[in-house]
Amino acid sequence: MNLRGRHFLKILDYSPQELNYLLDLAADLKEKKKERIITEYHRGKNIALIFEKTSTRTRCAFEVAAHDLGIQTTYLDPASSQFGTKESIADTARVLSGIYDGIQYRGFGQEIVDELALYSSVPVWNGLTNEYHPTQMLADLLTIKERFGELKGIRLTYLGDARYNMGNSLMVTCAKMGMHFTACTSKEYFPADDLVSYCHEIAEETGATITLTEDLDAGTAGANVIYTDVWVSMGEPDEVWEKRIKDLKPYQVNCDVMSKADPAAIFMHCLPAFHDTKTAIGKEVFEKYGITEMEVTDTVFESSHSVVFQQAENRMHTIKAVLAATL
Ligand code: CP
Ligand code: NVA
Repeated sequence: MNLRGRHFLKILDYSPQELNYLLDLAADLKEKKKERIITEYHRGKNIALIFEKTSTRTRCAFEVAAHDLGIQTTYLDPASSQFGTKESIADTARVLSGIYDGIQYRGFGQEIVDELALYSSVPVWNGLTNEYHPTQMLADLLTIKERFGELKGIRLTYLGDARYNMGNSLMVTCAKMGMHFTACTSKEYFPADDLVSYCHEIAEETGATITLTEDLDAGTAGANVIYTDVWVSMGEPDEVWEKRIKDLKPYQVNCDVMSKADPAAIFMHCLPAFHDTKTAIGKEVFEKYGITEMEVTDTVFESSHSVVFQQAENRMHTIKAVLAATL
């Protein structure tokens, strides 16, 4: 398998074989990290990390993964670069290609990262756009594989806003890997029709299934993985909170939801999560709308079903695999 020079923009661009290769590589790199084996395969290289939105996991994962591979990083935040304001995407791509061996982009529309890749002569990695979050998918697959030993046939139910980066990405990923994806949410929050149709086509080849339902019982019955994400994503206006809470509260992951799933089901979340009032936004929402927990209850988040911190750690190992393979 040779992925050298490839961009990593969305899961749709990768075959199941290529994704499995990256997962095996990540598992190997994880083991090496635990054994403190040096893996400086890309010593002397440099990568740029463009962040137009905030991050804890993705930034830290890229920086540590790069360091472990012998790569130097430059972090560019929205305030300290010319990106998009004084310099076009195409010009930035050509400037950075001359200095760096790879470019990570986190920000807004998928078309931005696509354009960066178009004008870049070095690999571009998508660290989250409004539409997709592909590096998160690798971490999630590795976590599921670690728990269940396989991916094919796993039943994953996603509750919440399934039209955004996490819902879209999970649907595509399940279709590719022969998993059973269910979006269990209010109709308005189902993924877009064209993406659903495309995933149905992929699913026919891989044995996956795609289900969209508003029925909480049917959608969660026997699920191996219960997955949710924040109800309001980065970059969305504050005005949407009230309606989101009203629409998505019935799909909150709580003990009742977990009891409908398979008894050995795991709870997953890309994080950050609003499961208490210990954050500024959590507090603000409580003061305004009177709820102390949002997409997941604190009990489920802290329960033995929850693998969220294993997922978070796996961001680093899987991003390391992407860097190691594509540079
Ligand atoms: N899951 C995730 O992408 O987290 P950050 O926003 O902290 O990078
Ligand atoms: N849907 C979330 C994912 C965060 C990792 C967001 O875009 O804010």
